[in-house]
Amino acid sequence: MYDFRPDAALPKAELYRQLIAAAAALTEGERDGIANMANVAALMWEYLPDLNWAGFYRVVDGELVLGPFAGRPACIRIPLGQGVCGAAAASGTTQLVPDVHAFPGHIACDAASRSELVVPVARDGAVIAVIDLDSPLLARFDSEDAAGVEALAAMLATRI
Ligand code: SME
Repeated sequence: MYDFRPDAALPKAELYRQLIAAAAALTEGERDGIANMANVAALMWEYLPDLNWAGFYRVVDGELVLGPFAGRPACIRIPLGQGVCGAAAASGTTQLVPDVHAFPGHIACDAASRSELVVPVARDGAVIAVIDLDSPLLARFDSEDAAGVEALAAMLATRI
């Protein structure tokens, strides 16, 4: 049994340090990328407060396809360049969106979402997936969240 219980009072940087350590331990030596994404989606859901969706989209044959996640059922396929996830995948850059209603082309999988953070996972110079976090709170994510999820993405690049 894995029991990585986060302490809600931790400073954000420490919370991400612990999340990444837990994710590294859970994925260490496991070659199945889907299994690893599934466990990391569950960890993000447990560690990070105020989320309504946490998970992965994978780049498959030139489009994003839904991967393992926690939260409500979501859009299955997203063309590169569309929505927040598609923008992250097409540009290879983190998308920090404080108000999704102000993001042109945002794809509303869950009407409750108000802010979003999407971080690309790159391997050998190509984006292979994105990590997507959604929150019902306006401006839930900041630069510390972006840095934390980028570090998580870098650790996972060879494990998914
Ligand atoms: N809102 C995302 C779509 C994915 S769902 O939020 C899970 C977007 O605009 O890309």
